[in-house]
Amino acid sequence: MLNFIVNNKEVRTELPPGSALVDYLRDVLHLYGTKIGCREGDCGACTILVGDLKNGGVKYETMTSCLMPLGNANHKHIVTIEGINGDELTPIQTELIQKNGTQCGFCTPGFVLSLYGFCLGDKPRILENAVEAMGGNICRCTGYKSIERAAGAIVEQLKPMGKSDQVQWLVQNKFLPGYFLEIPERLRKINVGKVVEIKDSGCIIAGGTDLLLQDPEKAIESEANLVFGAKEYKQIKFVGNKCYIGAASTFTDIKESKELNRLFPKMADYVKLVASTPVRNMATVGGNIANGSPIGDVSVMFIALDAVLVMKNKGKTREVTLKDFFAGYKKVNKDPEELIEWIYFDTPDGKTLFSFEKICKRDFLDMATVNSAMRVVVDNGIIKKASFAVGGLGPTIRYLEKAAGYLVGKRIDNQTFKQANRIAQTEITPRSRAEYKRSLVRQQLFIHLMNFSPETISLEALR
Ligand SMILES: Cc1cc2nc3c(=O)[nH]c(=O)nc-3n(C[C@H](O)[C@H](O)[C@H](O)COP(=O)(O)OP(=O)(O)OC[C@H]3O[C@@H](n4cnc5c(N)ncnc54)[C@H](O)[C@@H]3O)c2cc1C
Ligand code: FES
Ligand code: FES
Repeated sequence: MLNFIVNNKEVRTELPPGSALVDYLRDVLHLYGTKIGCREGDCGACTILVGDLKNGGVKYETMTSCLMPLGNANHKHIVTIEGINGDELTPIQTELIQKNGTQCGFCTPGFVLSLYGFCLGDKPRILENAVEAMGGNICRCTGYKSIERAAGAIVEQLKPMGKSDQVQWLVQNKFLPGYFLEIPERLRKINVGKVVEIKDSGCIIAGGTDLLLQDPEKAIESEANLVFGAKEYKQIKFVGNKCYIGAASTFTDIKESKELNRLFPKMADYVKLVASTPVRNMATVGGNIANGSPIGDVSVMFIALDAVLVMKNKGKTREVTLKDFFAGYKKVNKDPEELIEWIYFDTPDGKTLFSFEKICKRDFLDMATVNSAMRVVVDNGIIKKASFAVGGLGPTIRYLEKAAGYLVGKRIDNQTFKQANRIAQTEITPRSRAEYKRSLVRQQLFIHLMNFSPETISLEALR
């Protein structure tokens, strides 16, 4: 039995945990303000807020309810547009109307909820972050500028709000209805001592962003093994000289991790290229690896870090190097019920440099045409270790062993780039648009080396 709060009402349901939350909201609760545009996580019309107990309060994040497994709502506070509405329009709704940020209105509930995600989040309240919060919402009418103006006006209104007690301030200033103040206590009552229980069998369901899109019947019909939010696998920890990332960590956890951003100063920028805010709040590292995608961004990054997976199957644990995990297009070397618990790699030291690149048709919310990551260890200007992973060239992500091997013992300069590229080109056989993809690999290799040592390599090398 699933038990959670939707808006101001506690609900219980025995519907399959793998079914989509949006169908429960619309078909059972008749909350039709949550729209269905694409059912693929792309349009944001179904965006809702998901609140979970954290540090004594409730942390709210946006998610796309079309791909959110119902079971992941258990013990949470789900907020739809109806849960925001009071007798009068809220300041967010008013600004959208006044700035002509709504026309047909189909997308508007999603935009409103995304802006609430921004108001309730931890990020600095500047326009750039408000726009990023709406990165998963599509509007076919307004042309976005009017929505952006409304967001700008909301940013201004939020200036007096403190960094904590946002809910209190938002209630006082009529952004949120008063019942939000009681939610932490009400959630505690239905949540006391309950944790996500991971089973030994069943269909593993994490964020659902891949499973509910690719195989929704399987998610509904199988016995669900829900791993999203399992606290033991939703952490980043350091053991000896290894960094361990729990498989249930979301892309947002990675993007916002202070430790990872200290070790990889551009990590937040890299992860910003992956999906959109609501999808990043759901999609997990384990799901990205287990789905065996040849363009999984996180998988490419971890392969270049020579990461190792720790997996558990019916009590037995084994480890496998990530680069040896992929067996073919969307095929991986694991039993379907085998759980990925951890991904670990050598914690980078001061000599380690890392770079990730992704080329896609759009800047944001797009899968890669070609993505790649490189890690080098450089001592006194000489490369001591190198790894290079490239996605988008065939059925699996490629680990370019020879090109990386060539780099060892070299200085980063134009000559090194040219020869490494020649070798890399012999290691790849792109399945489609071969010349174009070969040129992308060459460019990305160049950019990685340029990122590592801009003073010793120049654009001349590309001529
Ligand atoms: C709109 C949209 C945009 C996207 N953009 C990107 C993008 O830019 N880059 C990118 O790389 N991907 C992208 N994706 C793909 C997808 O979101 C990711 O691959 C995601 O990481 C999948 O994680 P999940 O937790 O949602 O997995 P789920 O959908 O829950 O599961 C996917 C598969 O992995 C298995 N699984 C999940 N967790 C585990 C585990 N711990 N152990 C074993 N098996 C497990 C499940 O059984 C299932 O077979 C996008 C998806 C959407 C919908
Ligand atoms: S319906 Fe389009 S993102 Fe959910
Ligand atoms: S107002 Fe019509 S889709 Fe946005």
